[in-house]
Amino acid sequence: MKNRMSEDGRKVALVTGGGRRIGAAISAALARSGYDVVPTYRSARLEAENLAAELGGEAVRLDLSRPSTFARFADRLKRRHGRLDLLVHNAAVFPRTPLPAVTPAEWDAVFAVNLRGPVLLTRALLPLMLDAAKGAAVCFVGDAGAGNLWPAYLPYCLSKIALEAFAAGLAAAVPPAIRVGVVRPGLVLPPPGFPKERWERLRRGSGRGIRTPNGVARAILQFARGEGTIFSNQSP
Ligand SMILES: NC(=O)c1ccc[n+]([C@@H]2O[C@H](COP(=O)([O-])OP(=O)(O)OC[C@H]3O[C@@H](n4cnc5c(N)ncnc54)[C@H](OP(=O)(O)O)[C@@H]3O)[C@@H](O)[C@H]2O)c1
Repeated sequence: MKNRMSEDGRKVALVTGGGRRIGAAISAALARSGYDVVPTYRSARLEAENLAAELGGEAVRLDLSRPSTFARFADRLKRRHGRLDLLVHNAAVFPRTPLPAVTPAEWDAVFAVNLRGPVLLTRALLPLMLDAAKGAAVCFVGDAGAGNLWPAYLPYCLSKIALEAFAAGLAAAVPPAIRVGVVRPGLVLPPPGFPKERWERLRRGSGRGIRTPNGVARAILQFARGEGTIFSNQSP
């Protein structure tokens, strides 16, 4: 961002993991539609900073596995931008964790980033969103395939199902000025190193969910505009 309060009336969107892959498409689409976008990164600093510079802003480091940093992160966002209109929970981890071998530490690491992080970050940022004069929105990126409970990705699938359950509960608990949505991508981008033919075969066999980064970005934009959500505490 431009290191200044967004006093000119521009809305502010935070996109976790917004510097690369699907998150980068979301950040770019929101910037094109007039948001001041703050993409966060954990390790991909250069990519996030380059994208943020292209979009006219600044990327911020955020590690979702470290909730003790969220209050400071919220303060920084408030000081720099003064408002938060849209919070997009895009960041997640997707490690291969076959059930016979997964360790408790590997299990906990998935839940720390994919579930505990978004829940506690939402809690930390809610006061800033409640300040937004015209209401604010929180969008969770789920996974259309999570219900398959893939045995090699069980903690991931369960974390995404729990995240959607949290989104439904949040929609019921917050004032109507805060809208809550879930967007469910299908098979969009293979994890790095995933065999290409296997990915194409999986895609051919699966018709569910949104299948391109720009498709995910469009769904989030629609949600931000008050159209289409899976959970919402307001009429569309
Ligand atoms: N790819 C697909 O086909 C697909 C399908 C269905 C659903 N989804 C969902 O769509 C979203 C984006 O998918 P993707 O494939 O683009 O994701 P990705 O490349 O695997 O990762 C997304 C981002 O998560 C960030 N991240 C990882 N660990 C983090 C941590 N501890 N703290 C903060 N950020 C962290 C990464 O930041 P750094 O790079 O900076 O470390 C990365 O930018 C995810 O929620 C995913 O579950 C994806």
